[in-house]
Amino acid sequence: MLSTTPPSDRDEAARAVLRRNDRGGFTVPNGRVYPFQWNWDSAFVALGFATFDLDRAWRELETLFEGQWDDGMVPHIVFRAPADGYYPGPEAWGIQRQPLTSGISQPPVAATAARVLHGLSGRDASRIRALVPKLFASHRWWHETRDPDGTGLVTMVHPWESGRDNSPDWDEPLANVVPQVDVAHLRKDLGHVDASHRPTHDFYNRVMTLVEEAKALRWDGMAVARGLSFRVCDLGIQSILLRADRDLLKLAEELGFTEEAVALQGWIARSDTAMSRLKGGDGLYRSLDLRSGRLSEAVTCAAYLPLYARMASQEDALALKRHLAATRAAAGFSVASSDPRDRRFDATRYWRGPVWLMMNRMIADGFSAYGLTEEAGLLRRDSGDLVRQNGFWEYFDPRDGTGCGGPDFSWTAAMWLSWAGSQDDRQALTAL
Ligand code: GLC
Repeated sequence: MLSTTPPSDRDEAARAVLRRNDRGGFTVPNGRVYPFQWNWDSAFVALGFATFDLDRAWRELETLFEGQWDDGMVPHIVFRAPADGYYPGPEAWGIQRQPLTSGISQPPVAATAARVLHGLSGRDASRIRALVPKLFASHRWWHETRDPDGTGLVTMVHPWESGRDNSPDWDEPLANVVPQVDVAHLRKDLGHVDASHRPTHDFYNRVMTLVEEAKALRWDGMAVARGLSFRVCDLGIQSILLRADRDLLKLAEELGFTEEAVALQGWIARSDTAMSRLKGGDGLYRSLDLRSGRLSEAVTCAAYLPLYARMASQEDALALKRHLAATRAAAGFSVASSDPRDRRFDATRYWRGPVWLMMNRMIADGFSAYGLTEEAGLLRRDSGDLVRQNGFWEYFDPRDGTGCGGPDFSWTAAMWLSWAGSQDDRQALTAL
């Protein structure tokens, strides 16, 4: 049943979630389950803050980049302050730097978010000017350190880098990682949320084995990219990076970063061509296991992101429109994170079925850019209904919309404020 909360109160409730999760310049995704700063969460959260406090929105990106490594990597977690409720914390990563961080990255949404903030900032370009070199260093890290042979396809070395932690996309590559550790007793997540929503012990043992491998390589970027036993080109990262390259290029051109603009043009051209390697026989895009050379069997929510990257053809866009219609007929709310008709689909388990609002936001942006405004509008309405019916949950069951994971989630509130809660059908994030 639709709740009767007036829209303005829901906006206020969303702002209250962000304020409550604000730890002073950075936001935790959710105080209990995730007590630190996460990379792509911060980029989405900045879009939410930008609707009512632009200065605070900039701070979110600035504090994220305080965790940037010397080689340009922006870590997936910045451990701002000690907190007990999370595993693996700083000691498990074993990285000696301040602020403490994890050793892997996450999808680079930051340049796209920065361009949105810049668009709202009038003539004051001081903050974007300070950020562009840092954004550029992080893109260089993806294109050089994580693509050591210059193939145009970037490597991820850990499922958590994708941000779609437990997606069926990683089943096969992860099956080839031989677990060397048993960390079941160290997990903290099962104390906060339902175990049936969370990854298995076996999954944790394999992914923490990857962390041990990287530690043995002293976290040397190139050695990690070439040496870990999990090396995948994630369709999500690849698409989000390409889109962010395009946004960063616009910023570089406008602000006179000439050399950076030239490098970005080169990376964009290379990725645009290389991504055709990710297309399956059915015309839909997938992730690629770089060790086995095999495309993932599953068609997941990442399949739509080539639209967001603006590399898909109009024909690809129509194939995705048909795919959306077919999967929507099988589960009430879109976009399910994996195909509801697939045997790997699991409606409530992490990234194996549930709907995530930030994914919907990027997918809608893509449909809208290809003139498929009906699909874009449908995703905005579904996303709005999920929040209206259930609140700001981390993610939602696509069958009936039940909220899952953690409540009062920052990026869900941010997506409400910046997109799902509005009546505005102009959904492209930035004008490309
Ligand atoms: C989970 C999600 C990841 C997100 C993090 C914090 O690990 O899979 O995408 O960044 O939670 O919200």
